Amino acid sequence: MLKIEKLTCGYGPLNVVHKLDLIVEKGSIHALIGANGAGKTTTLMTIAGHLPVQSGSIIMENDLINRVPTKKRVQKGIALVPEGRRLFSDLTVRENLEVGGYSHPKKNILQNLDQILSLFPRLAERLGQLSDSLSGGEQQMLAIGRALMAEPKLLLLDELSLGLMPRMVEECYIALDQLKNDGMTILLVEQNTRQALAVADNVCVLESGIVAWSGTAVIINYIRKQYCLFA
Ligand SMILES: Nc1ncnc2c1ncn2[C@@H]1O[C@H](COP(=O)(O)OP(=O)(O)OP(=O)(O)O)[C@@H](O)[C@H]1O
Ligand SMILES: [Mg+2]
Repeated sequence: MLKIEKLTCGYGPLNVVHKLDLIVEKGSIHALIGANGAGKTTTLMTIAGHLPVQSGSIIMENDLINRVPTKKRVQKGIALVPEGRRLFSDLTVRENLEVGGYSHPKKNILQNLDQILSLFPRLAERLGQLSDSLSGGEQQMLAIGRALMAEPKLLLLDELSLGLMPRMVEECYIALDQLKNDGMTILLVEQNTRQALAVADNVCVLESGIVAWSGTAVIINYIRKQYCLFA
């Protein structure tokens, strides 16, 4: 689904990710983990088109998308759930979801809305509420729902569980599992390494913008336990 080769990117003249190689297989969950400041968010923002590529390539379904604008990447099937959720606080739950599907015909919007509400029944009970009034976990569900309204093929999830109550984390991960079973491809950034390794098929560990380790979740988990790494 996504192939990244020798990607170097960052902010203006400052590169913070260096020569990153990453392949996200169709229908898999690929976790990107690493300490604070390792470059996880920068990588996702660059894949989504919010930050420029300095060098290297981002290939989505065999198309080089380095210079494709963000809006076109969304149409190509890339959707980002950003760190901190970035919901529209003065819009209701329903309106936030509708914004996510803005480029689709009304019929699709209603159909997608139904599917998302069955994935997150909590949102169905709160459609008329302002997003600001939701709990952290409900806001995360809304952020995922808004991204799903764009009918993505590849979901980029930045810090799914950060700051959430354990029960909400569990609900979000159940939804993630369901999405994977429905064929979604997911690139997941997580601070909660244990949680990420439990759901991921493959893992990439970033250290100071460089890939330190990569492999199947089973192998990375073994290394973590054996050498007490990536706590
Ligand atoms: N807007 C910016 N301008 C300049 N440097 C930035 C900017 N945003 C982030 N950085 C720097 O880029 C590096 C990588 O940051 P990034 O946010 O990608 O890390 P991260 O792995 O997502 O960390 P965290 O786990 O804290 O979310 C850090 O050194 C950070 O200070
Ligand atoms: Mg981050």
